[in-house]
Amino acid sequence: MKFKTTPYHHDLLKDTDRLAVFYEAIEQYDSNTDLAYDLGCGSGVLSYFLSSMFEEVISIEADFKAFKCAEENLASFDNVKVINGDVLEHEFTRTADLIVCEMLDTALIDEEEIPVLNYARRFLKDGGRIIPQGIINTVELVNMQRHHIHWDEEAEYDVLSDEVAYSQFNFSDDIDPEFSSNFTLKANKDALLNGLKITTYTILDDDIIAGPLPMLNPPLMIPLDEKRVRVNDFIHVEIKYSMGKGIESIKTRYL
Ligand SMILES: C[S@@+](CC[C@H](N)C(=O)[O-])C[C@H]1O[C@@H](n2cnc3c(N)ncnc32)[C@H](O)[C@@H]1O
Repeated sequence: MKFKTTPYHHDLLKDTDRLAVFYEAIEQYDSNTDLAYDLGCGSGVLSYFLSSMFEEVISIEADFKAFKCAEENLASFDNVKVINGDVLEHEFTRTADLIVCEMLDTALIDEEEIPVLNYARRFLKDGGRIIPQGIINTVELVNMQRHHIHWDEEAEYDVLSDEVAYSQFNFSDDIDPEFSSNFTLKANKDALLNGLKITTYTILDDDIIAGPLPMLNPPLMIPLDEKRVRVNDFIHVEIKYSMGKGIESIKTRYL
């Protein structure tokens, strides 16, 4: 099937590994399940996967151009309804068996996954499920070449510590978007420390965990004040951010 898309949603479609993990998680449903919501449906590709498993799919997209593409792409599927609007303002009238919400970004800081799920979760049936199920975030000390917050797909950094998990979220739980964590990492060489690398692992379902992909949570690089470190030094850091409020909300400091 050929999809009409915006340039951004075209990049999302080109990441076939991203599509594959969502497809695998969705196809585990028995066909003829009642109702699924696809929140932030973009070009409608995940709604297309859902359409053969669910009697009805309701897909919501805030961006008007993406909505028009999804509406056109899914026009021949009588069981899919595409709505243009902000999920946070949508008046849901029914509960669903499944919510698919792919508003992911590294550590869920820049997109509205958490505010949207905190609102939409109440429109899930008892025993209903959410795809993805959750995420795990890890952190490493780095020396990075660019001294501003950015997503790095090209590995322009030197890793200075082991990778340590610092947070995990299950999307079935109500989640406080105001996040803070203190962690300690051990330097593995003498070097100039100037940043953190955050990696997000996406738990699609019980059997599928996706690591970073070009269009699914590429590593997020966050500057720290420069500090000379020696091998085996323990580095204590605090990080705070507001999930859904953007990367400008990130604050770090040494403890
Ligand atoms: C990462 S894209 C994923 C698109 C599509 N689900 C896919 O997997 O290809 C996230 C989409 O969510 C939409 N979005 C973000 N916040 C939204 C909100 N509050 N209400 C509705 N759509 C939203 C964006 O416009 C974007 O199209």
